[in-house]
Amino acid sequence: MTHHRFLSLVLLLSLPLISPPGLSATEARTLKDAYHDAFLIGVAVNPAQFEETDKKGAELILREFNSISPENVLKWEHTEPRDGEFTFAAGDRYVAFGEQHHLAVIGHNLVWHNQLPAWVSQPPAGAEKLTREVLLDRLHRHIMTVAGHYRGRILGWDVVNEAIADGTGAYRDSVFYRVIGKEFLVMAFKWAQEADPHAELYYNDYNLDQDDKKRATAIELIKYLRANGARVDGIGLQGHYNLTYPSAAKIDETIGMFADLGLKVMITELDVQAIANQSISGAVGAFPTTSTRPPANAAKRWRGWGRSQPPKPLTPEQQTALAERYGEIFGVFWKHRAAITRVTFWGLRDADSWRRYASPLIFDDNYQPKPAYFAVLKAAK
Ligand code: G3I
Repeated sequence: MTHHRFLSLVLLLSLPLISPPGLSATEARTLKDAYHDAFLIGVAVNPAQFEETDKKGAELILREFNSISPENVLKWEHTEPRDGEFTFAAGDRYVAFGEQHHLAVIGHNLVWHNQLPAWVSQPPAGAEKLTREVLLDRLHRHIMTVAGHYRGRILGWDVVNEAIADGTGAYRDSVFYRVIGKEFLVMAFKWAQEADPHAELYYNDYNLDQDDKKRATAIELIKYLRANGARVDGIGLQGHYNLTYPSAAKIDETIGMFADLGLKVMITELDVQAIANQSISGAVGAFPTTSTRPPANAAKRWRGWGRSQPPKPLTPEQQTALAERYGEIFGVFWKHRAAITRVTFWGLRDADSWRRYASPLIFDDNYQPKPAYFAVLKAAK
């Protein structure tokens, strides 16, 4: 080998080492760039972010993500807090932020038993009982008005959220199921399609990749909707995970099963509890390790507690464990990139998260990427 060729070889082999300090090839990329050809990378946003009072938050969102979901502002309690009184001020600012910055704007959600104002479940003034007819009218007006208001501006709606119970495979005993019956699901999808014909329509739920009975019912639900002439375009797997559950194999299997139904698969609310068995003494009690679901009002109770007492920063070992788990999960998503159309994180920073107690996100309170962020980047080959 000539001296010249030897030098070239040395130079070539040492290229990664002599690239400018500070920025490696991986760090120069952003999440949305790394996954550009695979799926959208979304984040759930709050008013401080989309109204840009949280300037750093808004900037980080625009740098890293190309889709947004409204963490709360399009839920029934916000859009129709009183019978027939619709309020779209916050929702309009959310959608405008997305449009202004060319983000894929998601609607969350049209029908849910939670964050549902009390009046919806009560009989009208003077009546003794809430009838099927009255509740169907309320559901119809709500869906037509809200989805109609944003017609043509929402990429896809979580039409129905969490309609299946845990552990039994039964439908959830919500007011809609109790008073209307299973058909409320068909009606909701048909009305959403009528209100905004070009929006994609999703069924969204948690633990479908952990609870086989729940997953079986969700599959049956998709078939039932289609058999009754309703269009459903996608399944939302919420993805409220912890360090061990569900297993990568179960996530893999579940994505495959929904993809086989010809559905777009979305991970809609991803977060991973970094602390396996977090106990918040005196406030919430121990969170189960085997369930991704804290007690019903844990988020609310946590909020009160969390303001005065933020969680301790993660140890390096915990950061590593979280990063490895995110890397593992995104490895599965990458494998299924032909079926997955979007992966959305349920919040930007740990400080924004409903599960703040468990530091579940990939940016810390100071808007800095955690090791988990780099693990996610690395999983895009
Ligand atoms: O709106 C009030 C505000 O006026 C008041 O100042 C404040 C005081 O604490 O509370 C505010 O409401 C809270 C709201 O979040 C906004 O911060 C509610 O108490 C609180 O319950 C609510 O929690 C939301 C939760 O849904 C309610 O079920 C979380 O932010 C939101 O992340 C969470 O999101 C859900 C998805 O929609 C569906 N899947 C599960 C996921 C996690 O629970």
